[in-house]
Amino acid sequence: MIYGEILKKGSNFLKKNKIKNPYLDVELILSKVLKKKREEIILNINKDLKSADISKFKHYLFRRNQNEPIAYILGFKYFWKHKFLTNKSVLIPRPDTELVVEETLKYLANNKSKKILDVGTGSGCIIISLIKERPKCSATAIDISIKAINVAKTNAKLHQLENKINFINIDIDKYKSSNYDLIISNPPYINSIELNRLDDDIKFHEPKLALSGGFDGLRELKKVIFKSKKLLKINGKLILEIGHKQKNQCVKILNENKFYINKISKDLSGKDRCIVSSKLQ
Ligand SMILES: C[S@@+](CC[C@H](N)C(=O)[O-])C[C@H]1O[C@@H](n2cnc3c(N)ncnc32)[C@H](O)[C@@H]1O
Repeated sequence: MIYGEILKKGSNFLKKNKIKNPYLDVELILSKVLKKKREEIILNINKDLKSADISKFKHYLFRRNQNEPIAYILGFKYFWKHKFLTNKSVLIPRPDTELVVEETLKYLANNKSKKILDVGTGSGCIIISLIKERPKCSATAIDISIKAINVAKTNAKLHQLENKINFINIDIDKYKSSNYDLIISNPPYINSIELNRLDDDIKFHEPKLALSGGFDGLRELKKVIFKSKKLLKINGKLILEIGHKQKNQCVKILNENKFYINKISKDLSGKDRCIVSSKLQ
């Protein structure tokens, strides 16, 4: 079978089963199997495949057909300026989360050494992207999931930051070290009703621990806010990713906990997604 034929058969198979992005996904799968760039595949569309490669292709295609996200099948996802290893133990880094990196960088001058904490680091995509940009800062990243911490450590090593970021497997509730200049967090914030309505790709494959924010979606956000009050220096910044309908509730909780709201930014689809606040006292 030639490249062109397997791409056509594969994408028709996915399309028939209503899998999103069938054309792109089969190209990505074939590029993984052949260890070649997509462009190279398209330029050699009449080339023959080995039978071992056809079997590998089928294996990945069936996984995609079960709604497994393409980032888990490929084993990586690009975020900000870098490539991050991803597996089912971590949330797949989202483009919307790049907003947290973008906003945080505004509060980190190039030549200053600030102390940063990342709560719920997952793949480590936020903190690794930040430290790549601001190498003088010192960083700690925590996660309740040991499997996520292991993925984040692997990613830090991949980006030569294993000695720059301190990874700790702990619940934010139990974390005690303080005096941070800046705390960032993209906590799980989906409420129980929305959780059931998520696409199958997410609902059945991404870790619940990374998605579920309890019945109202605010359980972990509240924990991060309460704890940040203790862990931040006065005037330290708390930068949070939030669900697009959580702005008013989060502003209220932040104000009740003596945080001043500096800025609320919208994501790529114009939804409120990131709150920057300062600890007042
Ligand atoms: C939405 S994911 C974010 C992952 C990554 N920071 C990102 O933006 O892609 C939330 C992460 O928080 C972790 N987490 C959930 N509850 C936590 C808690 N109480 N303390 C620390 N980490 C927690 C989850 O294991 C998960 O890795």
